Amino acid sequence: MTDHTRHDFERFTGPNPGGEAEYAAAVADGYDNGRLPIGVVLEVSGSGSQIALDLQRLNECMEDTDPSIALAGQVGSQIKIRVGDAWLLASVRDQRKDRRTEGGIIAHIDFLGEGGEEKLTGRINAFKRGVTRYPIPGSLIYPTTTQDLEQIYASDGRASISIGRVFPTKDIRAGLYIDAMLGKHFALLGSTGTGKSTSAALILHRICEAAPKGHIVMIDPHGEYSAAFRQTGQILDVSNLQMPYWLMNFEEHCEVLLTGSGNDRQVDADILAKCLLGARTKNRLAQTMGKITVDSPIPYLLSDLGNIIQDEMGKLDKATSSAPFMRIKGKLDEIKADPRYQFMFSGMLVGDTMADFIGKVFRMPGNGKPISIIDVSGVPSDITSTVVAVLSRLVFDFAIWGREEKNRPVLLVCEEAHRYVPNEKNAD
Ligand SMILES: Nc1ncnc2c1ncn2[C@@H]1O[C@H](COP(=O)(O)OP(=O)(O)OP(=O)(O)O)[C@@H](O)[C@H]1O
Ligand SMILES: [Mg+2]
Repeated sequence: MTDHTRHDFERFTGPNPGGEAEYAAAVADGYDNGRLPIGVVLEVSGSGSQIALDLQRLNECMEDTDPSIALAGQVGSQIKIRVGDAWLLASVRDQRKDRRTEGGIIAHIDFLGEGGEEKLTGRINAFKRGVTRYPIPGSLIYPTTTQDLEQIYASDGRASISIGRVFPTKDIRAGLYIDAMLGKHFALLGSTGTGKSTSAALILHRICEAAPKGHIVMIDPHGEYSAAFRQTGQILDVSNLQMPYWLMNFEEHCEVLLTGSGNDRQVDADILAKCLLGARTKNRLAQTMGKITVDSPIPYLLSDLGNIIQDEMGKLDKATSSAPFMRIKGKLDEIKADPRYQFMFSGMLVGDTMADFIGKVFRMPGNGKPISIIDVSGVPSDITSTVVAVLSRLVFDFAIWGREEKNRPVLLVCEEAHRYVPNEKNAD
């Protein structure tokens, strides 16, 4: 470390009386990169801030044998900021050249969390996410060392799964607390080709190992996961999914059966509601149950629905012309005849019960295969979102209606979720 660099810092910060002794000690200790500052904080705001880095110091760090120090200050690396007697951890988001200072770099950072300092060793301890004390402009910035990362990523004994190593070290294990992760919604985000699908498969494999009796439902629009889960997964595609059409609620029936738009659609929907309720009421189950609605998952025969529409059309006192009835009946016949829709609209499916289907899809019992991969790549594209909506709704309904039963949490994983989430009608 040259005096020149040190003066650079003083230009940023003014003489730093607090850092003086520390600085001298670090230099006396034979040039310890981990203990010499690499920059200063310029500006602080809510979740991140702007810092100035010293190019010469970054170059010095780059030659360090510790891979974590060697990466210090670069985009994606982690740095630490001294705040009183604690350390604040942050990651570097971007860098640009500082035009006003020779060898200066301006960077934005995002705060990660904070930890205390062990008095004897100077290491970070008791790291936790979030920030309670912000730094002030002028605070010094130091590289994080491998030792620091070891402390930050150490598991505190809670159940966790291991998914790899913490970059850039080669030996610090990266783990995820499964209970904390599965207790809320989580997403894997990244630009295309960055390994999201690979990570999802890895995480699910680890969860299956940790919880072989769990229940995971994965919706796979491209059929890319079947190879990865041959051992632990039940692969369901159009050939064996056999999703009964009567599981659909009224809204979903409309998505599939109604072709008109605007005013026509409203007229068609009213007719479909009446006929669908009629078809559902014909079931023996419905008679014992008392009150049912168009949304009740009661099996009905497609031929019953067809006949009721036909009968209603023949009535002389109907409010509209025959056209709406013809439209619905036409679409229904088309779907019944189309082999691509057979996985859902086959007459055989009326005999299935909801318990059978839920048991198969939610892996209850799991028979050693805790995950079901629902490959919807063969589903006709116009009803893919409906199929996904029915499956997702089943997961939520199961959780809500099964509250009194033994707790059986189900993990729903949606690959390429952005494809069907924007379709708000089906997003409930
Ligand atoms: N940790 C890794 N190390 C090296 N290569 C990897 C790693 N993870 C994934 N890959 C490779 O990167 C490529 C893309 O991975 P993947 O398909 O998982 O990305 P993706 O983010 O799902 O992409 P897409 O947005 O297209 O779905 C694959 O060829 C995979 O083998
Ligand atoms: Mg992918």
